[in-house]
Amino acid sequence: MNLPECIYAIPALCRPLIKDMGKKQMGSPHPNLSGAVEAPVEMSTEPYISEDYAREEREKLWLKVWQVACREEEIPNIGDYYTYEILDQSVIVVRTGEDEISAYHNACRHRGRRLTKGCGHTPHFHCPYHGWQYNLQGDNTHVLNKEDWSDSLDEQRLRLKGVKLGRWAGFVFINFDPDCESLEDFLQEVPYWIGPFQVERMRYKWRQWLRMDCNWKVSVEGFIEGYHSETTHPQTRKLSDAITCGSSEGLHGRMFQVGAAGGGIGTGVGKKSKVDVREAPYIGLKMQKETVWTLTTDTFIEAARQLPELLPEDATAQDVSMKLFETAIKIDAERGVDWPSVDPEHLAHSGINWHVFPNTALLPNMTFCMGFRMRPDGFNPDSSIMEIFALERYPEGEEPETQWEHKPEHDEDSWPLLVRQDFKNFTEIQLGMKSVSLADGGMTPNPLREACVINFQRNLAAYMDRPGPKPLEPGK
Ligand code: FES
Ligand SMILES: [Fe+2]
Repeated sequence: MNLPECIYAIPALCRPLIKDMGKKQMGSPHPNLSGAVEAPVEMSTEPYISEDYAREEREKLWLKVWQVACREEEIPNIGDYYTYEILDQSVIVVRTGEDEISAYHNACRHRGRRLTKGCGHTPHFHCPYHGWQYNLQGDNTHVLNKEDWSDSLDEQRLRLKGVKLGRWAGFVFINFDPDCESLEDFLQEVPYWIGPFQVERMRYKWRQWLRMDCNWKVSVEGFIEGYHSETTHPQTRKLSDAITCGSSEGLHGRMFQVGAAGGGIGTGVGKKSKVDVREAPYIGLKMQKETVWTLTTDTFIEAARQLPELLPEDATAQDVSMKLFETAIKIDAERGVDWPSVDPEHLAHSGINWHVFPNTALLPNMTFCMGFRMRPDGFNPDSSIMEIFALERYPEGEEPETQWEHKPEHDEDSWPLLVRQDFKNFTEIQLGMKSVSLADGGMTPNPLREACVINFQRNLAAYMDRPGPKPLEPGK
């Protein structure tokens, strides 16, 4: 794969870059959604701290929106199920065929008892209360003393109620609204940009969750802007001068890394420092592994280690990046990991981080992807459930066996440094937002570097039928 000049010529000023970026040049199917630059706005704290707002989200957001329920790899065999929970709703996601997955409301049609909890495998669903049974297709197969109803229980009345289901990139999405738009329409630009990375061919490397004393939107926003990086993650500045900027992509959002080479994998190439450019990627990628536990692979690190031997002393940053990718492709090919074929132009413009509205963030790359899913924790606006995962591409048959691990502690054995640094902010943000000084449009997000946050709040407000971010009133 040859990486073109354009990757290295990314200008330090990102505003013109973002304006020129995207679908109009790339032949996207949604040309009008490209790269909106935000104007300065002020935002309300209500969505984050109000109990009424948290309750209203149930009807207006969660019962209407497409949301990630699980990954297909979590239910690999026919009869495997995953119980997805959001607020007071529960959904059974079950594999019903080799390539068929179905979703049902997790409520017995008799008197509503839940049928499943967590994950498992079953040939059918059995209600432990009065013994009604359902096959994997949701049809009722047993009603105790059915004759007592005379003939009034028809199949439709007895079937488990279905929930809309869609699949993309190895994720299973559900939607409670029977009249919802298709998942494809909902995702808009996202499959066009992330699709070529073939995230569906990656598997969990690790997956962990915990409860956090903050609103689910606080933690989503912690992972869809990089404005906090310089202050919260000072280690990231050691090797890269790159900054991140956001752009609104309709319902979703995209983050770009500006001023760095290497397709946004934090190689450290491009840093104006005294470190030999041939050595910078190794230092950068090793740090990535140690501080994020992903956003790189052992292959990338090995390829980076070899760079000083493979390149002459006067190698440019461009030579280094090209050699890094070439070597990594070679190492992976030898161990049976194919790389997806991604047009270099596409790679350069696809961004490093996507916010998939409302509660998922994905950082995809050639052979790995980091992801986040945040959910409300009941109707308490001050608590949320945070799941963080790393996906990677493995040789066939060598995918690791993983489970969701509950890691309530914030210590270094439980979570990588980078997210522990973020965790430190979340509770304090939630507490700070309660200040009466911020009540009426008191927050002022960065229009360039926190554009995904503004876009998120605008789209959320539209779902919630509330006024969204307003033009900033100076002097208020
Ligand atoms: S509630 Fe399920 S059989 Fe009665
Ligand atoms: Fe962060």
